[in-house]
Amino acid sequence: MQYNVVPEWGNLQVSRLGMGCMRLPTKKDGDKTVVDRPEAIELIRAAIDGGVNYIDTAYGYHGGQSELVTGEALLDGYRDRVSLATKLPSWLVKEEADMDRILDEQLKKLRTDHIDFYLLHAVNKSHIANYRKLGYQRFLDRAKADGRIGRACFSFHDDAATFLDILDDYDWAMCQVQFNYMDTDNQAGLSGIQAAGRKGVGVVVMEPIRGGALANPPETVKAMMEGYPVKRTPVEWAFAYVAQFPENRVLLSGMSNTQQLSENLKTFETLNEGPLPQAERDFIDEVTRAYRSRVYVGCTGCRYCAPCPQGVAIPDIFHNFDESYMFDNFGHFKWFYGECVEKGTDASKCVECGACEEQCPQKIPIIRRLAEIRERSA
Ligand SMILES: NC(=O)c1ccc[n+]([C@@H]2O[C@H](COP(=O)([O-])OP(=O)(O)OC[C@H]3O[C@@H](n4cnc5c(N)ncnc54)[C@H](OP(=O)(O)O)[C@@H]3O)[C@@H](O)[C@H]2O)c1
Repeated sequence: MQYNVVPEWGNLQVSRLGMGCMRLPTKKDGDKTVVDRPEAIELIRAAIDGGVNYIDTAYGYHGGQSELVTGEALLDGYRDRVSLATKLPSWLVKEEADMDRILDEQLKKLRTDHIDFYLLHAVNKSHIANYRKLGYQRFLDRAKADGRIGRACFSFHDDAATFLDILDDYDWAMCQVQFNYMDTDNQAGLSGIQAAGRKGVGVVVMEPIRGGALANPPETVKAMMEGYPVKRTPVEWAFAYVAQFPENRVLLSGMSNTQQLSENLKTFETLNEGPLPQAERDFIDEVTRAYRSRVYVGCTGCRYCAPCPQGVAIPDIFHNFDESYMFDNFGHFKWFYGECVEKGTDASKCVECGACEEQCPQKIPIIRRLAEIRERSA
């Protein structure tokens, strides 16, 4: 495992690969939204035993189960071996006292007396306006002073100008941004990462494989990669791209099983430090263009749009549609969509209330896309 020593974090030594606890293994039978506790604990501990020392969770992941399971995984001495990051659910903060109350609840769930990296979660224009109104800086100063949090940070989903506005609003230790070779001009983007670097704010990257989408390329992209003289798997190309920017201190991956974990641990033994050769960067540009011609919805599966008040399975419909679109294979989608119709979670239940679009970090026109998919599935 490779490590970064980060001066702005008190010379903390952090593993370049971080464990994201948003995609923990869930039960194979029964309720598939329930985290498979023993499997998830084994996975988190295996990551730590393999050298990962940065663990990222959040109040909302897996409907609140992620923090509980992560807390359990960090018993038996594992807590002392890691830097722990969790996040304040920005959308639940209505008054100043909510911030202290939720943080205290999180400490209990995580069975710890301090959070090393505490993030305001998925901050956007409206969240930062609300936080400013409620005096979030006082809260962060207070939580740092009394030791409940080590470093004040934010994670971000909005446009580049908003990112810069938030970056300048507080003495942040870290920002967590979505970044991969498909998202260089999306959200904070490369320019945002570089601005953070200039301010000495360390960057933690989320969605380096775009939520798994870049792991399974369409045939055209697969053929390009197989034909290229430098041999890397699609996942290795994704990590190699993100790793070349020195601002990116930790690359989080939401690994869902031990096979993915061991592959990624192996990749991070020899991952490039610093820029890839120009020819390889040009090749990634070509791959990006090939992908862009294939992705239809572009949902990353973060599930911020869920639950839909009408029960529409928005991220699952989008995920399955994009998979089929990329692979040009609608057989699977037809089967999946039929199941949705039976369960009453299909797109026809959408009443266009727009609650999902307000939450979507990718700004996907969800209502329109659902209508289009519904039409194509008729
Ligand atoms: N703060 C925020 O707003 C926010 C938002 C999003 C994420 N996050 C955090 O950032 C973390 C990282 O984001 P992410 O989970 O989207 O990361 P990611 O690495 O882009 O995607 C994770 C997915 O990639 C696939 N994958 C990983 N390793 C693989 C391998 N070796 N081979 C094949 N597939 C592989 C898996 O998909 P399959 O399971 O489909 O195979 C896995 O679930 C999250 O877990 C979460 O902790 C934060």
